[in-house]
Amino acid sequence: MAPEGDYHFGSADDVIPDTLPPADRLAWEQALAILNRLYDGLSEAERSAMQRAIGQRISAARASRRPELKKLDETHAGNSQWFRKAGRPAYCTYVDRFAGNLRGCIDHIPYLQSLGVGLFHPLPLLKCRVGDSDGGFAVSDYRDVEQALGTFGDLVTLADELRKADIALVLDVVCNHTAREHAWARGFVAGDPQYKDFYIRLDSEADVISWSANLHQVFPETAPGNFIYDEDARGWIWTTFYPFQWDLNYANPNVFIEMLDILFYLANAGANGFRLDSATYLWKVKGTACRNLPETHDILRAMKLLVSLVAPSVFFLAEAIEDIAEVIPFFGASAEERECDLAYNNTPMTALWASLAEGRSQIFDAAIQGASQRPEHANWLNYARCHDDIIWPALSSLASPQRQSGWSQFFNGVGGSFADGMAFQAPPGLAPSTCGMAASLCGVGRGPEGLERLKSVYSVIFALDGIPMIYMGDEIALPNDRRFLDQPDRAKEIRWLNRPEMDWNRSATSEEARAMLAHVGMLSAILKTHPEIDASGPSRPRASSESLISFERQGDTVRFLCIANLSSKSQSAPIPAGMTNLFTNESARGSAELAPWQAVWYLGR
Ligand code: GLC
Repeated sequence: MAPEGDYHFGSADDVIPDTLPPADRLAWEQALAILNRLYDGLSEAERSAMQRAIGQRISAARASRRPELKKLDETHAGNSQWFRKAGRPAYCTYVDRFAGNLRGCIDHIPYLQSLGVGLFHPLPLLKCRVGDSDGGFAVSDYRDVEQALGTFGDLVTLADELRKADIALVLDVVCNHTAREHAWARGFVAGDPQYKDFYIRLDSEADVISWSANLHQVFPETAPGNFIYDEDARGWIWTTFYPFQWDLNYANPNVFIEMLDILFYLANAGANGFRLDSATYLWKVKGTACRNLPETHDILRAMKLLVSLVAPSVFFLAEAIEDIAEVIPFFGASAEERECDLAYNNTPMTALWASLAEGRSQIFDAAIQGASQRPEHANWLNYARCHDDIIWPALSSLASPQRQSGWSQFFNGVGGSFADGMAFQAPPGLAPSTCGMAASLCGVGRGPEGLERLKSVYSVIFALDGIPMIYMGDEIALPNDRRFLDQPDRAKEIRWLNRPEMDWNRSATSEEARAMLAHVGMLSAILKTHPEIDASGPSRPRASSESLISFERQGDTVRFLCIANLSSKSQSAPIPAGMTNLFTNESARGSAELAPWQAVWYLGR
């Protein structure tokens, strides 16, 4: 929506960038060029007020950055991928599910170390609205921690302790929306001029209908539509997700400035990276789907440039669950035009499950072919599962809706499949997405082959180029948690199926848990011992039998192969003689025999 002018930027007496070193000055000028283009409706006076306001925030944030964080910035200067270390996976979890609270997370750092973790992503932990908060994604104060999880001081301590353990901390920044209870929203509703146009309000149902014509619905069953009528706000408020999650209006430069300042604040608290939640939705233009618009990329690029002036080592992780062609632009066109340093590798993740359902590698091959187009300056975060659902329509450019429905049904256990998932929601005519822990989707607990499948899924994820991520509990084959079905406020939110509590005793009591833990440990250890794998190129499919996943990565001096059997029959795969099986250390003699569902890694020249 176009800005209407008359914004209140606050006063600023100095524009600190005059004192910046040349490289920073360039970043500042590039950022301003982007913002001036984006906010071209501003008057000259408003534009200089905007620049002053940003300059003032930068100045204050630079002044308050602690020496140990400045040292980190210096250490990693010129290495925008410093957080990627061979054999050091990421670990993602809800704080309360993993360890009760932030102090508990600190106590469990040795556990993270035992897994070799190099990057820790606790899901949203900032203060959120009371009651349903969409798992913490409805933030009511970005400068405070949710009371049940601890204090802001605990968060700073966690960041400090992780840094000592050489583990990078990634925090969620829910940048597309706030809770309806956030002070900005309350000010907006009350007509406070400071929060004028912070959100998007439509005056009539006719407007709602015309804007909605091109919009997609994220939660068509639990939160139909994209707008909610709010009595107090006297209009229709844009809510892409739940009615209590109000989309911010980035066409108002003050929203950009406030969110930028929050990034500064959290970076100075010790966050090393930000997961930019729902990053695809930031800018809205009537007549479009309001996803992945060029202006959204401008916002992210400007944020990246400006954050680099305060906390140059801080990296961005894009949460863009879209077709691969829409995800790659989140990296920025070149190293000079960098936006996000990491992005979820959603296409291969979804396709891996689809291939498992079909017993055919075709869709996975197509997915990694697409993912291989990522620019060299950025990397994928590879994952099998996360706290969300598996969204089949994200593969719409690769597979028909009928085929997607088949996968959805398969993971629902239809037709006697091994999987124990549950369907979530989807817009009419599209395949319902799937929820469930990786172990349950692989059929762990339903016969010995389940564990082999789960091991293979993780062998594939760890073999892809980028950073592998462990979703809490997968390392001990933790199954679904169905208790949410008994909780009235959660029963319809099927994603709680894959948000179990950590079972710290499971390894002591379950053979499968021990075997999986050992397997994940082995994968990390191999990657650590052979950093040349991490340094090798993108994953590319190898022509092979249709029921084998088979891909390779080529380095300057090495060739790395990953092969996974997608069937319940043993299969033979051609392997160049002399390559070494990294799981057994045996030398290949031209082929390998893979047991049902087994995966193997080979390294050679
Ligand atoms: C992201 C989160 C998801 C949340 C949504 C709205 O997609 O991963 O859990 O519901 O954003 O904030």
